[in-house]
Amino acid sequence: EEKALAGKSLNNAKSTINAILEEKKVLLSKVESNSKDEFDFSMPGRASSIGSIHPITKIMNKSIEIFESLKFECVEGPEVEDEFHNFSALNIPESHPARAMHDTFYLDNNFLLRTHTSSVQVRTMDQQDPPIRIIAPGKVYRKDSDITHTPMFHQIEGLYIDKEVSFSNLKSIINIFLKSFFEQDDLKIRFRPSYFPFTEPSAEVDIEYVDSKGNKNWLEILGCGMVHPNVLDMAKIDSSIYSGYAFGLGVERLAMLKLGITDLRLFYENDLRFLKQFQRM
Ligand code: FA5
Ligand code: MG
Repeated sequence: EEKALAGKSLNNAKSTINAILEEKKVLLSKVESNSKDEFDFSMPGRASSIGSIHPITKIMNKSIEIFESLKFECVEGPEVEDEFHNFSALNIPESHPARAMHDTFYLDNNFLLRTHTSSVQVRTMDQQDPPIRIIAPGKVYRKDSDITHTPMFHQIEGLYIDKEVSFSNLKSIINIFLKSFFEQDDLKIRFRPSYFPFTEPSAEVDIEYVDSKGNKNWLEILGCGMVHPNVLDMAKIDSSIYSGYAFGLGVERLAMLKLGITDLRLFYENDLRFLKQFQRM
């Protein structure tokens, strides 16, 4: 009994569908005969592929977001810089060997492609009075290329100047940032004594990671220190009243660790098979 009933409604459905198809066929044949070119409506469509934001940009944005939540104001400076802002005002005089540490791309008339975002420290101190609490993200350039170096890379500069700023404030902000960025409370962070002409004392910070062979290693991710009194004085900030810390973070290095990439140059080869892996991160 049920079979007969079901059969009847199936037949009804079939004729309804056939009627709709017939109607559509007539309509399409009209369209077809109206258009000069033959058009096969049964051809499968072409899927459109949607682009996505570059993984380095995503890492930059995430970092900026964390620093903004820590009350740093985001500022920018020019990528084509002069020797004064990139070197001299940072306590690196003309003949100083530290200039050779930066493999600089020189342009005409004492211009250059900035080798670090520290130039933005100088520009900010010219424009603002303390307290100053800024980050300056952007592109920097050096004649440098191997698995942990590319000729163009990104840094995020940090600068905090106020009364009684100490090295422990610096250590704490770096620790807070890194643990929040890597979402890992037991992250192994190492402060290693270092030298920069514009900070004293200075340190470089390394993060422990496990390489592809399973060995533990350290990767340098940033340079930092207490702003050198000469730098404050040159910017007309009274170093007997104010002190400050500064840091310069390598964004690609953060990305390497976060995404498990062993050769930094992959980020800039623009191989879609590589980039597509990070579409949804
Ligand atoms: C500097 O550039 C200093 N201006 C940092 C600084 C700022 C120190 C403020 C004190 C106060 P350094 O050359 O070490 O320092 O570079 C900083 C970071 O940029 C490095 O730790 C590394 O993470 C990254 N980096 C440097 N060179 C390259 C490169 N060629 N490719 C990718 N990342 C790089
Ligand atoms: Mg270094």
